[in-house]
Amino acid sequence: MAATEFAPAKINLTLHVIGRRADGYHLLDSLVVFAGVGDRVSAILSDLPSLDVTGPMAAGLTGEGDNLVLRAARVMGVSARIALEKVLPVSSGIGGGSADAAATLRLLARMTGRALPGAAEVLALGADVPVCLAGRAARMSGIGEGLAEVPPLPQAWLVLANPRVAVSTPAVFRALVRADNAPMPREMPRLRGVAELAAFVAMQRNDLEAPAMAELPVIGRVKAALSAQAGCRVARMSGSGATCFGLFDDPLSARAAAQAIRAAEPAWWVADAPLLQPQS
Ligand code: C5P
Repeated sequence: MAATEFAPAKINLTLHVIGRRADGYHLLDSLVVFAGVGDRVSAILSDLPSLDVTGPMAAGLTGEGDNLVLRAARVMGVSARIALEKVLPVSSGIGGGSADAAATLRLLARMTGRALPGAAEVLALGADVPVCLAGRAARMSGIGEGLAEVPPLPQAWLVLANPRVAVSTPAVFRALVRADNAPMPREMPRLRGVAELAAFVAMQRNDLEAPAMAELPVIGRVKAALSAQAGCRVARMSGSGATCFGLFDDPLSARAAAQAIRAAEPAWWVADAPLLQPQS
């Protein structure tokens, strides 16, 4: 019997680049949340390991050995036939590969009773894998290994839009002019309601937006298209782009905004989804 695990999109509501390590990795201060749209990883334990990639974003991804899903399975020491339903665009700033790797770790741990790998091994899969493995809103620090709990966030809806151009994360980091930017406020405020959450996001930054937009001006159009929608409280780029998100109060306005953007830009990937709340 195949078991399945959801791999939700990771959204950087803020992303401050506050330093650079000697090895070139950047130190971040980022408020990360998850959206109710994502990929799905399914597996059957088998002596013959394999990976089958399906779904609307499968093109361009292979089931070859360097796929993060297979790397995660190897880290778990588990041999399985794995199916990845790819819904999230690849190289798009919403953690697709990291989310898939984290879902694979969770799934194979659940199926076999094995322990999850240690923090260093998780981080070695990718800087966003630790937060995706935690799977709940967090303030992320270091290069991705530091995870601090944040006060509960209000129920909000997200519209995600991507112009279907893949972004090279290393190239965006290389194009960053300053790496010593100010962090977020030391204390994360308790944000009551979407208006307060949006006001907080609007006062913070994504320091990768400027270098990403310099390389790919279409990202500016994506952000503007979200901002222009009725009910959009704030719009920003996530991660190193090109996906941008808009924050909305309710599912109806998010759905209407997504439909309007889809109608105007049929080539873009657009999704509306709730901001996932921690299940406790
Ligand atoms: O860890 P991951 O493979 O996701 O990172 C991809 C690239 O993004 C790294 O090779 C590095 O160039 C850049 N990066 C960075 N600082 C981070 C995360 C990623 O410079 N905190």
